Amino acid sequence: MKPFQTLLSLCLLFVLVSCQEDSFKTKIEYPVLPETSYSYKPNWGGMHSHMVGQDLGITDAGATLGRVLFYDKILSIDNTVSCGSCHLQSIGFADQARLSDGIDNQKTDRNAPPISNLYDDNLLFWDGRATSLNDLVLQPVRNHKEMGMENMEFLVAKIKAAPYYDELFSKAYGSNEVTSDRVADAMTQFVKSMIGCDSEMDRLQVSGQPLSPQAEAGRNVFFGKGSCYNCHSGPDFNDRGGFFDPFFPPNGGGFGWAQDIADIGLDKEYTDVGMGVFDQELVGVFKIPSLRNVALTAPYMHDGRFATLEEVINHYDSGINKSPNLDDVFKSWDTGETIRLGLSEEEKSSLVAFLHTLTDENYMNDLRFSDPFKK
Ligand code: HEC
Ligand code: HEC
Repeated sequence: MKPFQTLLSLCLLFVLVSCQEDSFKTKIEYPVLPETSYSYKPNWGGMHSHMVGQDLGITDAGATLGRVLFYDKILSIDNTVSCGSCHLQSIGFADQARLSDGIDNQKTDRNAPPISNLYDDNLLFWDGRATSLNDLVLQPVRNHKEMGMENMEFLVAKIKAAPYYDELFSKAYGSNEVTSDRVADAMTQFVKSMIGCDSEMDRLQVSGQPLSPQAEAGRNVFFGKGSCYNCHSGPDFNDRGGFFDPFFPPNGGGFGWAQDIADIGLDKEYTDVGMGVFDQELVGVFKIPSLRNVALTAPYMHDGRFATLEEVINHYDSGINKSPNLDDVFKSWDTGETIRLGLSEEEKSSLVAFLHTLTDENYMNDLRFSDPFKK
């Protein structure tokens, strides 16, 4: 071999080896965490001021571990998807796609809802099929379309093999033992800590700081002519607030306070029946979602069918279908016919302006909830 060729092949070998080393190194991505842990004391305030001083059983080390797990792609079968892939902080932990991308180019069946202030929510997922965060958090991990990690032993083995978890588990639980219960507990602590209540509407409620005149007009529509408050009331705008509905079937078909679910007449006939999988009387009935940060969380509804708030409002104004389980709020008391709100263009845009006052900008920028793997 001529010297030049030898040199050339040596160079090639060097390049090859270092490439391989690189690809090996890049397989392990390390989270970057603050030297002293963030404080995960809940950010109570605004319309959640009544909670000040309440402790949710969150430890800083537990939530820190939960944060790393939430953003770690090794929790998916092929290392491509984390919780944070479908729940993006910049848009209130929702997804901008109608249906989210899971593993193997699969799409989720529904629109990924935003995440905030879920600490005491006992009606989770669009059809309320999970009743506590602790029950919920491993479901996306196991879901064959979302993260595909059906075998919990394999999940535990993968987490054990990642070098940075030893210390995180020790700090959170006093030993480095990895169990699926600990994984669920840490993620629950993190998701519970995701609280934001510093929006314009919070400041109005707590310190009387006024809204803009247009948003104030919209607030009047929301709590008046629009009847939105019948379902979107309470500190997170997802509560029927003790609204009395004598005919509401979920309460055993008898008299009672309505639960925080409704059929809003999106379709005459539903392809996704929502809570209808549990009971025929609940076909088309879905969870009433929180409206916090709603200006950022498009697209809207369980299937992401509406791209803008204007489209949502047009639905409520004049698009409601007479579905079999349509909520009584949308029916005329005497004729049973579907109600048309008859909002003027001005009322509609003021309503949009009001919905914008439910955004808490700090929540989207809170480092405690950000992706530790982001370079
Ligand atoms: C591939 C996308 C995807 C991934 C990954 C994902 N989610 Fe979701 N998430 C969704 C979708 C879609 C729904 C709604 C499903 C339904 O209602 O049937 C949802 C619902 C939720 C809800 C319910 C919110 C509510 O108001 O009811 C929570 C909480 C949640 N996800 C947390 C997580 C956590 C924690 C992880 C990681 C372990 C995760 N998600 C991973 C797409 C995803
Ligand atoms: C009878 C109860 C009820 C009333 C009244 C009501 N909503 Fe809703 N709202 C719901 C339910 C249930 C959903 C989810 C429906 C679905 O996805 O199938 C929803 C969804 C929404 C969404 C989409 C949120 C998201 O994250 O996708 C917005 C925005 C909204 N409503 C605003 C309003 C406004 C504005 C009004 C008044 C004009 C109003 N709602 C009146 C029950 C109600």
